[in-house]
Amino acid sequence: MRPFTVALSDLHETQSMPFVDATALRRAASGKSGDVISLASGTPYEGDFDLEAVQDYLELFRRHLVVRYGGDERDATRTILQYGRVKGVINDLVARHLEVDEQITADADSIVVTVGGQEALFLTMRALRRTDQDAILAVHPTYFGFVGAAELADLTVLPVKDNADGIDLDDLENVVAEAVAAGIRPRAVYVVPDFANPTGTTMPLRTRQRLLDIAGELGLLIVEDNAYGLLSTDREHPRTIKSMDRNKQVVYCGSFAKTGVPGARVGYLVADQPVTGGAPGETLSDELARIKNMVTLNTSPIAQAVIGGKLIHHNFSLRDANLAVARHYHHNLTVALDTLAELFPEGSEPEVTWSAPRGGFFIVVNVPFDTTDELSEECAVEHGVRWVPIHRFYGDGKPRRRLRISISSVTPEALRTGLVRLAGFISQHVEKSTPSVSSPSRSEFLQ
Ligand SMILES: Cc1ncc(COP(=O)(O)O)c(C=O)c1O
Repeated sequence: MRPFTVALSDLHETQSMPFVDATALRRAASGKSGDVISLASGTPYEGDFDLEAVQDYLELFRRHLVVRYGGDERDATRTILQYGRVKGVINDLVARHLEVDEQITADADSIVVTVGGQEALFLTMRALRRTDQDAILAVHPTYFGFVGAAELADLTVLPVKDNADGIDLDDLENVVAEAVAAGIRPRAVYVVPDFANPTGTTMPLRTRQRLLDIAGELGLLIVEDNAYGLLSTDREHPRTIKSMDRNKQVVYCGSFAKTGVPGARVGYLVADQPVTGGAPGETLSDELARIKNMVTLNTSPIAQAVIGGKLIHHNFSLRDANLAVARHYHHNLTVALDTLAELFPEGSEPEVTWSAPRGGFFIVVNVPFDTTDELSEECAVEHGVRWVPIHRFYGDGKPRRRLRISISSVTPEALRTGLVRLAGFISQHVEKSTPSVSSPSRSEFLQ
């Protein structure tokens, strides 16, 4: 009997988007080299994984609940093991953490605890898409999970130009004006102000303030995605847009993947915007919770308990809890930038340049040829290093002369070796495409 078949062309458009599985990217080893170094995956560093600490966090949260419930152990157990409240069971702890680490004052009831920051993005996109005319703006290139979430919600994304400050505000205004003239309704602008994925750019404070003003004038919500900011080692790092948000104009999306426990898959959003036409006192968080109720019912209370316990254990400061791992990331970033400078000294051919982030996981490398999925695969098989072609962060599949590398999950030694291999690949590829020009292999520059 022939199996029942389903045509790709009959499924939602997201089915034809490239499938980016972080684990596969990390583990992927193919071809003859066998030891492929993945500079593709942005998965967090594993050196500090500690299963015993996770058990301690769980117990700490349980004891916290027993106190909260006036000594009732059964209620505490039920909260952790039973289906949970749609909005979450650690909202008060998340609110305290936001106060301590981000100077954000959030009412616990305006918080929805989600399955990663990714679900927070999806819920927001889904809610903002009422009709075909609705659209969201985003700097391009941008986080591919955002592009995917918007696509899944059938919400149009309007690209805004990037610059050294993380967003071209003049272009933002132009894109909105053009969209409105074409009958489109821009609802929000999505930004990753801290160590953006993929560029690594940090938005300066004055740009954050201007963005708040301009979005206010244009009637746009700001969706602020802060997956990496707490890993800053710089005391002068600019404050979040949400912490300056006097008009409740910012929906703030957070993640505990990089600062809590990645495998817990817990994130959250703060959506304190009053909703008109609904039940009295409702905020956008209530509407987003309604959608969550249809998608995941509630975020695993066991997973929330682990994060809640970690927050309690560290006096609500994940900045402090992550000092050592933040130093690892910062060290790796320095190693990567120094190695790139050694491999591609100024004025050398082929010309290769790169972004110079102050933190985070990612660097964009500008190369003298278009990057594609096929080239990335060829580089992994032939040269033993993997990276991500930049088209993934535009969502249009158009090849461009840039690629993203990640410094997060590898050791400094592997990072250096990976970059030497990348340089060897770049040299060889340029030579192959322009046979008359011969230049020394870049891998010769480093021992
Ligand atoms: C900018 C950005 N936002 C959100 C996420 C998703 O976060 P989470 O793992 O909490 O779902 C990521 C993950 O890489 C990211 O880079």
